[in-house]
Amino acid sequence: CGIVGIVGNQPVSERLVDALKRLEYRGYDSAGVATIHDGVLERRRAEGKLVNLETRLRGEPLAGLTGIAHTRWATHGAPTENNAHPHFTDGVAVVHNGIIENFSELKDQLAAAGASFQTQTDTEVVAQLLAKLIRDGMSQREAMQAMLRRVTGAYALAVIFQDAPGTIMAARSGPPLAVGFGKGEMFLGSDAIALSPFTNEITYLIDGDWAVLTANSIEILDHDGKPVSRPRQVSVAAAYMVDKGNHRHFMEKEIYEQPEVISHALAHYVDFIENRVNPIAAAIDFAKVPSLAISACGTAYLAGLVGKYWFERYARLPVEIDVASEFRYRDIPLSPQSAALFISQSGETADTLASLRYCKENGLKIGAVVNVKESTIARESDAIFPILAGPEIGVASTKAFTCQLSVLAALAIGAGRARGTVSEAEEKQLVRHLAEMPRIMGKVLNSIQPAIENLSRELSKCKDVLYLGRGTSYPLAMEGALKLKEISYIHAEGYAAGELKHGPIALIDENMPVIVIAPHDRFFEKTVSNMQEVAARGGRIIFITDEKGAAASKLETMSTIILPNVDEIIAPMIFSLPIQLLAYHTAVFMGTDVDQPRNLAKSVTVE
Ligand code: G6P
Repeated sequence: CGIVGIVGNQPVSERLVDALKRLEYRGYDSAGVATIHDGVLERRRAEGKLVNLETRLRGEPLAGLTGIAHTRWATHGAPTENNAHPHFTDGVAVVHNGIIENFSELKDQLAAAGASFQTQTDTEVVAQLLAKLIRDGMSQREAMQAMLRRVTGAYALAVIFQDAPGTIMAARSGPPLAVGFGKGEMFLGSDAIALSPFTNEITYLIDGDWAVLTANSIEILDHDGKPVSRPRQVSVAAAYMVDKGNHRHFMEKEIYEQPEVISHALAHYVDFIENRVNPIAAAIDFAKVPSLAISACGTAYLAGLVGKYWFERYARLPVEIDVASEFRYRDIPLSPQSAALFISQSGETADTLASLRYCKENGLKIGAVVNVKESTIARESDAIFPILAGPEIGVASTKAFTCQLSVLAALAIGAGRARGTVSEAEEKQLVRHLAEMPRIMGKVLNSIQPAIENLSRELSKCKDVLYLGRGTSYPLAMEGALKLKEISYIHAEGYAAGELKHGPIALIDENMPVIVIAPHDRFFEKTVSNMQEVAARGGRIIFITDEKGAAASKLETMSTIILPNVDEIIAPMIFSLPIQLLAYHTAVFMGTDVDQPRNLAKSVTVE
């Protein structure tokens, strides 16, 4: 969910909605705004996308110089208007991101004391509790502090009180929250991007902090109510409303941006004149670590899985990897001499952050492979490895994935050099391949679209699709399936090609296309045998291969996408392009909401 707040000297409601637009990536199930005007607290809320709220506000505008707003990704309670934030009780309005874990216990206590609840949300408990504490005689400030002592869980909160029209109170324990400094106005937001149209002077609250904002001051307090000072920073998130350029969707724009952003990312890690990998941040000594742990969620996890193949192959470094929601609870025996990498576009994913903290407690050195350098995951790490993809707006990750891969490839080569498992000559060769990547990507993007569009028309008629791959093409098969299901809602599975015969082969018939990702690499022959198993059972094959692979395979396919021959180290990035475009065009044919597919959010700050 996304939060914004403004306390100031000009009307706030339109500006709040404008800031919410920048936060829509955090959820878009419903949205709402509350302001105080002439001593009266009022709100407008709407189910669904932000445009619905805008329409509502056009019909019934909201005046007022103090306000808070919210865009929601539902956790407790369906995404209806009634469950949308802000929640109101007796002159208290609350917006909330995260989960109040003890909400049902608090709800029972409040209900026993006579409170009647309007919604099924955990957030209403906060409003009810504050209202009760004020009824019991506390000031707003005292009530806020007492409330924070009683709630447990992960939350970012913003509160306004009808009886304190020039004040916003906010608190953070988990999901990010920043305050912004203006002239005669102060701001609150989930991230620097939300605050970017208003100010670039911001301070991130840290866990346990709460804050009191008025038009001319921001006071930050710790859990015990003692004033604390937190560093003010100049945010680099420019005051842009990220736009789609000539593209129909952000996702399409982000796919086509890849050659450019990858060049930036690589330039940070690689010296293209000497063809060497730049020295890796001293905080992690890859020469000495006995093993590496990697953890992440979603697409970032699949990038990590490709990374595992590279660290093992090039740096001879054993890698323990798992999705963060399992990693954090598995009780993994970890050596304190080891290092751990956490991969996250947003740098805020709750499970990934929890895995990071688990590794930190176990004494491991922590590296963050993140897109948002100011994020919590970055700030809690010993070394930050930025992926430099620029803001990614489409919920389905594309350029962040290939930038993550590019950074991991450079790190694996660097680790190999440090460990003596990659020679200088090999390093130079590998770096030369990395250097060619943006040019080859550009060429592929300019040539494969017509073939992909034809194929996508076919795929859009299917109910199930199977993706197969071996080696680094195996995580890519899973990424292909993930992309397709995320945005087109077609059921898809990614499998290791060799596992086909152990189960999924039973599904094969003429209705389920099998997409085989197979560059002409060490595994090619083996994968072709698996394709034969598919063909023998009447399965329809979509073959994504390179020129050598296309020439070597004699199998009849439904369609063959032919990419240029490239070295193994860059194949995953190059082969990402057709799988991204295939998912994209299929979704376009299906008419789904490509950039904001149903039920998903780009940044998931709850467990
Ligand atoms: C969400 C997004 C995915 C993303 C995952 C991890 O589920 O919809 O696209 O891969 O979170 O996000 P992160 O910001 O940690 O990379």
